Amino acid sequence: MTVDYSSSLQSIFSAIALHSNESDVEKKVIAPILQLFGYDSCDWEAQAIVGKSKLDFLVLPPSSVIPYAPYLVIEAKAPNKNLNRNVWQINDYMRKTAAFLGLLTNGYEFCILYNYEQKPKVILDYTQDDFIKNFSLLNKLLCKQTCLSIYKSSYQNELNFRSKFLEKISKLFNDKDIEKQVINATAKNESSTQEKKEQQAMIITIFNNKGGVGKTTTTINLAAALNKLGKRILLVDIDAQANLTTGLGIDPLEDIEEQGKKDITHLLTNPRVQLEDVVIRKQWDDVELDIVPSHIRLSYMDNELSNTLDIDRVLDKKLKKHLGQYNYVLIDPPPSFGKVNTIALMASSAVFIPTQLTPYPVRALEYVMNRAIAVDQSRDEGLQILGVAVSMYDRASRKNTTNMTQKISEIIAKKPETKDVKLFPPNTWIPRLTIVANAADDSKGYPLCYAEFDKTLKANEKEAAQDAFNCYMELAKHLISITTTKME
Ligand SMILES: Nc1ncnc2c1ncn2[C@@H]1O[C@H](COP(=O)(O)OP(=O)(O)OP(=O)(O)O)[C@@H](O)[C@H]1O
Ligand SMILES: [Mg+2]
Repeated sequence: MTVDYSSSLQSIFSAIALHSNESDVEKKVIAPILQLFGYDSCDWEAQAIVGKSKLDFLVLPPSSVIPYAPYLVIEAKAPNKNLNRNVWQINDYMRKTAAFLGLLTNGYEFCILYNYEQKPKVILDYTQDDFIKNFSLLNKLLCKQTCLSIYKSSYQNELNFRSKFLEKISKLFNDKDIEKQVINATAKNESSTQEKKEQQAMIITIFNNKGGVGKTTTTINLAAALNKLGKRILLVDIDAQANLTTGLGIDPLEDIEEQGKKDITHLLTNPRVQLEDVVIRKQWDDVELDIVPSHIRLSYMDNELSNTLDIDRVLDKKLKKHLGQYNYVLIDPPPSFGKVNTIALMASSAVFIPTQLTPYPVRALEYVMNRAIAVDQSRDEGLQILGVAVSMYDRASRKNTTNMTQKISEIIAKKPETKDVKLFPPNTWIPRLTIVANAADDSKGYPLCYAEFDKTLKANEKEAAQDAFNCYMELAKHLISITTTKME
């Protein structure tokens, strides 16, 4: 549908007269026309300082692509000023800013310039009538949508240029890894397509019936670290507390229910709802995760779950259809041995047990492993215990660490079924740091690696986040090393 802008433009132009001043032209003509082109006031900077000059309007690209040149600079003049005598000024501004386009206007005449090789040239010279008549064409050239698509392709070109440059650097140093280290996405794509052919996702429940040992926090950050290492990840929140969902910035009410979207409860109880109907994809810089969100109503659905046909296998069956899409599916269950825990374990081929190095969580490990053994023995596929990971590690208490690791070894050695289970190496232990808890806070809701983009954090908080995330990266590498042979 084409919109007729002529009446809006006529009313804009009627707001000025020949005796109006420059400021009238800026406020009554230029700003409303920019709005007609689809810009908001935050898209332009008025009276922008460039060098020693003050530009009337600078239409800027989105901040993420700065330092690109402005799309459009505008110089306003009073209606009684002759534009021909002021072309030098817009030329100067366009050269200084390298803007793509320039507009010089006194509200009655409109001079549009294009900047090629820093040599701006007038491409259109319009009266008010021409402006109204040709507005739909002008709109195509100057509107926000065009501005954004121009920046997108400039950005793409620059990316190509940068990747070619990087290739040259790699060749110069005869080191292929230089390229991979920098262009994570390329490494991701390569491994993704290769693995896609070879591999099915491994489904792992982050399992411990003890509450508050760091299951959810580990799941979130381990997932981000695995994705940084090129792995495609699906996260399944099967806990009514929905901490994983909110910890990744998704509000189960506002973002799911009120939008008419579906969550884990629909996936479990409605045979027609499939994985693709519930998955939400989220991105934080170069990290991309697929998430099945949870909802508090899961806590009062025991009856419904018990009445659902073959409920223990529902998740298993629905996940299995999509195993080719992911490398790892991580399930975050609640702290209990209830129904949903059984559903999670029945869908998994392995468990990963996070614990704190403190007496109660360590004591609970025996029950946790017994439960895993029971599930392992109750079905054909088996359930592997990948190992015990340490979270909220207190770096200061060495003596306690020795005691607790000793206890864990004793628990592991107790049963023949668990004697090969290993405590993960100390470089993978996650320290107890306030920033780890804060990142998954409802108000932030991002994996720790994204803390570097959080403008509200101080430098020392960003350092702490990096410190903790490095441990998650070690944990991810360790997980890959112990699971890769199994998956191949
Ligand atoms: N490394 C850490 N440093 C500091 N705080 C942490 C760390 N890991 C987790 N926490 C905090 O400890 C609390 C429990 O963590 P989390 O929710 O991950 O445990 P959980 O085992 O999933 O709990 P639940 O059993 O209730 O599901 C949370 O407040 C979390 O923010
Ligand atoms: Mg949890």
